Amino acid sequence: MDIYVDTANIGHIRHCAELGFISGVTTNPSLLAKEDPSVDVKQRILEIYDLIGGHLSVEVNALDTKGMLKEADEILSWFPDATIKLPMLPAGLAACNALSKQEIPTNVTLVFSPTQAIAANNAGATYVSVFMGRLDDIAIPSSAVLEDICDIWDIQGYESQIIAASVRHPIHMIEAAKAGAHIATVPYNVIIQSLKHPLTDAGVAAFTADYEKMKAARS
Ligand code: G3P
Repeated sequence: MDIYVDTANIGHIRHCAELGFISGVTTNPSLLAKEDPSVDVKQRILEIYDLIGGHLSVEVNALDTKGMLKEADEILSWFPDATIKLPMLPAGLAACNALSKQEIPTNVTLVFSPTQAIAANNAGATYVSVFMGRLDDIAIPSSAVLEDICDIWDIQGYESQIIAASVRHPIHMIEAAKAGAHIATVPYNVIIQSLKHPLTDAGVAAFTADYEKMKAARS
């Protein structure tokens, strides 16, 4: 399972680029608004693009197909290998289909059910983003929904990539990997949390103390 970072924070993306195991960035209007809201979106997206050197999904804001395609053109003029993120609406599916016919990568977002996921795949989506945390928020177990979607992908031989999104904690990452999601897009704090283990810290502290003891004995 590939790991993307789900943020528009430049400092966090810079750190993720250094970590060496993060292969993409997903953004959305809420994540962009969380950072400096006065910043020019094109400038922010290009800064992110320069840092990550991998997959970058940029979401449209229009709610009609024509408007979505116009925004997609603009994003593609900023950098030609952009993945256009489209909402799981009839208008978004139509835009997805039009872009897929031009071989432009698309990410259909705000997917919460297997039937929505099938529609996104059949509209030609490159990526289908299934939201975990927001399902759990309304007491629908996200791991079961994601498992169903991944099973359907296996049975049907679909080629689009499933992204586990709205990931809130490391257990979501494990559930996504076990279900068979191709990618998990994860907030920066959860990525850092997922790397920590108290036994790792204790082991490093013990090794360092013993190394210092031997160094002191030799001097
Ligand atoms: O990946 C989608 C994400 O940005 C939404 O996350 O936590 O707002 O549901 P959340």
